[in-house]
Parts: sequence; structure tokens; C-alpha cells
Amino acid sequence: MAKTIVLALSGSISAYKGADLVSQLTKKGYEVHVIMTKAATQFITPLTLQVLSKQPVHLDIMEEKLANRINHIDLGKEADLFLIAPATANTIAQLAQGLSGNMLTATALALPADTPKLIAPAMNTKMYCHPLTQKNLKILQEIGYKEITPRHSLLACGEIGQGALADLDIILQKVEDTLSE
Ligand SMILES: Cc1cc2nc3c(=O)[nH]c(=O)nc-3n(C[C@H](O)[C@H](O)[C@H](O)COP(=O)(O)O)c2cc1C
Repeated sequence: MAKTIVLALSGSISAYKGADLVSQLTKKGYEVHVIMTKAATQFITPLTLQVLSKQPVHLDIMEEKLANRINHIDLGKEADLFLIAPATANTIAQLAQGLSGNMLTATALALPADTPKLIAPAMNTKMYCHPLTQKNLKILQEIGYKEITPRHSLLACGEIGQGALADLDIILQKVEDTLSE
């Protein structure tokens, strides 16, 4: 049976790479359910990810179309893997504090404890290296998230440094390795 990946995108400029990520995961035979933050929808359309995943995209925690489902709980139960790519500094901070104000963070908080969790940060170098972001990532690692570290590169903001979303090949490899563990 196809493994289910819940892929959550937050509002980084690199969210446009989500289209390729969803496409490649789907072609590999995974069932991909996409969650997007409101900010992520500024960088790539939900329609694109809906078409590529062949599944409805989850945007609003209050939008419950089926009476017998609560999406942020049931998606977590169905996930063989929870992948956040790209993860913004804001979303990382919210997750580290246990906030649950949107579909992404609420699903993360409702995940069964043994669900494998991968997180791929993407942001400006100063944001990534900031002690608060590093502290938040450490908190997430302590509760079982595995970080897919960002690349050192020329960033969209014009600075050179660590913060670019990891290459898709590396993200895909981590997904396969984690699911085969
Ligand atoms: C053009 C642009 C690019 C951005 N890129 C990033 C980014 O790569 N990483 C990041 O952490 N925030 C980035 N931000 C800021 C986030 O979009 C902002 O913090 C937002 O509140 C994140 O919300 P979310 O975590 O709910 O998706 C960017 C904002 C703009 C306007």
C-alpha cells in the first residue's frame, strides 16, 4: 500500500520548489497530502499543489467539509511521515512553543508521538543563525524532528550564507531513508 506523506509548506520564497517536491514524491508512488500556511499561498498556488498531488490542499483549520472528519487530527493519524518543507523561522518558533493556530501547527501538535518528522528550514542566514531560531530547532530535535539542514548559497535576499532550502534530491533521500527505517 502507498505510504502517506503529509507535506506542510510555510511562507518561504522557496515554497515554489514545493511543486517539484510534490510532483517527485507523487511519481515515486507516495500519497501526498499538502498543508499550506496562508503565507505559503503567496509563493505558490494551492491549485498547483492540488493538481500535482491529486488531493485536496489543506489551508484553513476551520474548513471541515466532511462531517465525519477533523482534518488536523485525522491527517496526523494517516501520516507515515510528516515533512515540513520549507519551514520558516516563524513556523519553527510556533512549533517549538506548541502553538496550534493554523492547520500546519495544529496538525503537528496532534501527530501521534511515533510519527517520523522531518523539517527543512529555509530563510535568510541571520534568521537561521539567530540564537532563538537555533534554540527552537534544538527543541524540535529533542521532540523527534530530524532537521534537513539548509544549504550555504547565494540567497534570494542577495546575501551569501546558510539558509537555502536543502536540495530536493537530499530531501527525497531523507524521506526514503526515514520511511525505510
Ligand atoms: C518575499 C518574502 C520572502 C520570504 N522568505 C522567507 C523565508 O525564506 N524564510 C522565512 O523564514 N521567512 C520568509 N519570509 C517571511 C515569512 O513569509 C513571514 O515570517 C510569515 O509570517 C511566515 O508565516 P508562516 O510561518 O505562517 O508561513 C518571507 C517574506 C517575504 C515577503
